[in-house]
Amino acid sequence: MKKFLKITVILLGLAFIGIQLKPVDRTNPPVDADLDFDGPEEVRAILQAKCYDCHSNQSDWPWYSYVAPISWWIAHHVEEGRREVNYSEWGKYSERRKEEKIEETYDEILDDLMPIKSYRITHPDSKVTEEEFIIIEKWLDGEL
Ligand code: HEC
Repeated sequence: MKKFLKITVILLGLAFIGIQLKPVDRTNPPVDADLDFDGPEEVRAILQAKCYDCHSNQSDWPWYSYVAPISWWIAHHVEEGRREVNYSEWGKYSERRKEEKIEETYDEILDDLMPIKSYRITHPDSKVTEEEFIIIEKWLDGEL
């Protein structure tokens, strides 16, 4: 029994080392200041502080994003997040698309879906506050 346990631990250890070899894309595409979010300054501050890790080309990659399998999961969130809305490439969006994204940004915060729950565990201050939500609402209503 003891021997069996020892072999199991060794195999698990080898598997853990093995999965570290799988390449993970953690690249931040170059940032073009001309395309970056150019909405109201108050809104930009909120997005930068609470959303840019997944919805921009300026993601922060913490140490645990270098440890598989967590790294796969984080890289996937960033990839999906950038695909949904990339505030670093705001300038590429048509006026109509921008309006759509403003509405989605508002809706996701209203329904408390963003930032995603798992991110809030490691970033406890990332929840959007009441005051910040009011700013987002004004932005949506064109009052900023
Ligand atoms: C940890 C990564 C992460 C953070 C931080 C994050 N998001 Fe997301 N976001 C995602 C992922 C992944 C998706 C796509 C899957 C989904 O909709 O859940 C997404 C989807 C979205 C969408 C598209 C939703 C739709 O209509 O389908 C919007 C809008 C959005 N996020 C806004 C925000 C805003 C605003 C913030 C900051 C307050 C934020 N996100 C923070 C990962 C993140």
